Amino acid sequence: MADSQRANDVAAWKALATHYQQIKDVHLRQLFADDPGRGERLTAETGGIYLDYSKNRITDETLRLLLQLAQERGVAQRRDAMFRGEKINLTEGRAVLHVALRAPLGARILVDGHDVVPDVHQVLQAMAAFADRVRGGAWLGHTGKRIRNVVNIGIGGSYLGPEMAYLALRPFSDRSMTFRFVSNVDGADFTEATHDLDPGETLFVVASKTFTTLETMTNAATARQWLVHALGSDAAVARHFVALSTNTEAVGKFGIDTDNMFGFWDWVGGRYSMDSAIGLSTMIAIGRDGFRDMLAGFRAMDEHFLTAPPERNLPLLLGLLTVWYNDFFGAETIAVLPYSSNMRRFPAYLQQLQMESNGKHVDLQGHSVDVQTGPIIWGEPGTDGQHSFYQLLHQGTKLVPCDFIGFCRPLSPVAHQHDLLMANLFAQAEALAFGKTAQELAAEGSPPFQTPFRVTEGNRPSNVILADELTPFTLGALVALYEHSVFTQGTIWGIDSFDQWGVELGKVLAQRIIPELTASAQPALHHDGSTNTLIQRFRDRRRA
Ligand code: F6P
Repeated sequence: MADSQRANDVAAWKALATHYQQIKDVHLRQLFADDPGRGERLTAETGGIYLDYSKNRITDETLRLLLQLAQERGVAQRRDAMFRGEKINLTEGRAVLHVALRAPLGARILVDGHDVVPDVHQVLQAMAAFADRVRGGAWLGHTGKRIRNVVNIGIGGSYLGPEMAYLALRPFSDRSMTFRFVSNVDGADFTEATHDLDPGETLFVVASKTFTTLETMTNAATARQWLVHALGSDAAVARHFVALSTNTEAVGKFGIDTDNMFGFWDWVGGRYSMDSAIGLSTMIAIGRDGFRDMLAGFRAMDEHFLTAPPERNLPLLLGLLTVWYNDFFGAETIAVLPYSSNMRRFPAYLQQLQMESNGKHVDLQGHSVDVQTGPIIWGEPGTDGQHSFYQLLHQGTKLVPCDFIGFCRPLSPVAHQHDLLMANLFAQAEALAFGKTAQELAAEGSPPFQTPFRVTEGNRPSNVILADELTPFTLGALVALYEHSVFTQGTIWGIDSFDQWGVELGKVLAQRIIPELTASAQPALHHDGSTNTLIQRFRDRRRA
């Protein structure tokens, strides 16, 4: 990719714009009628993850042009630069090496001439030794009790991945232990997570890349008070707190023994960190072997992204399809619909992964982009979503491309319900694509006056991601699939998917407002009229 070239400058983008005009009214019914083999042909598979992208509004020509777009925008070159440890996060001058977190021992990845792979494995070993001690009962609390509760305190990438992974992998977890997650600075979050826990049996895992994040530091201080008050000694902190961070100094200052700290590095972005030390709670839950399997899943998808031919490369295809709807159809959102109750936090996890990465308005040269960047990601598990928002997906006026995610084999012993679950997934993707015509309704004897209300026009695109089973390996592969899809999109748009400057302003303003709320004397308020009035009303009423 020529450095200064913009996404919509390249030939493939222009060709796609023209092609869109030709294809925008073509119905999926037509595409399938013209090519009955499409449902088998437009699929790709790796490591037990099967992607059916046939129900997308694309032809072979669309695919050809999208793959040309990837080529013209240098996706493969930038991918290779990322895997080599080059500092592709330009605005922060950092390498982007979440792929090193799952690199096998013996691989070499250099950052500033230093091989980071041995460091990664050293931390993994320390995590595994600690997880073994907690799970096996060798790590005792201050009063000599076995640890039975693990509370992860963290927010954003230091929370969403651990919580999502714990819920997804509960069938693999130690069921004798309780896992909780505290993220919100709302004290209710801490209270609800701890109200029924015995402090003597509780381990707090304070997860924060920077160890400065307001929410996490506040909740960690509250947790320390709660613990010390209950156990009667500051010395208890050493047995009940561990830290996951890149900031050794701040961990020490907080009062956590740095021997009980598991580190990572500035080349791991928060939203790409669930397989770093940030995954300690996951490892305690599923054990070192489960965590190793999860890393193997990540690695399998990394290798696929690196080596699979473009036309069979799952993350590349997923990323390009996202660009197709986002930039040419003008779709504003993508719904992620896991047909798995255990995957219920996956949409929230993907919100940060995608929206913090690709919610950018300038390109790598600092120029305003003149194309749409990251779509809004949202979703809920099916079948719940079917009884709330699917009506809009089927008959609303907005185009919402969907990613359906399902599994061939259930992990729940209530296995007979799995066929019902999956029947719903297949039915929804089918209904969205093909709809129901007025003629079909008439043939079924539907009263004519209802026809306009009952017609579902279809032509609503979706991907179906069908994996064999929701195992640690599958979860790792699924997360890496989306990580590399996000990378593909960001590279097409020419943005930095690895910084997040936009979240800073709100944090700075909150720091200014905190003393205005807490001061007992009336502070002078110098905000806009709305903010001043809101602050004053809060001050006047909070103790009513
Ligand atoms: O505010 C956004 C953010 O910086 C995320 O990128 C990050 O995952 C989250 O805050 C938490 O940061 P930390 O792990 O440093 O506490």
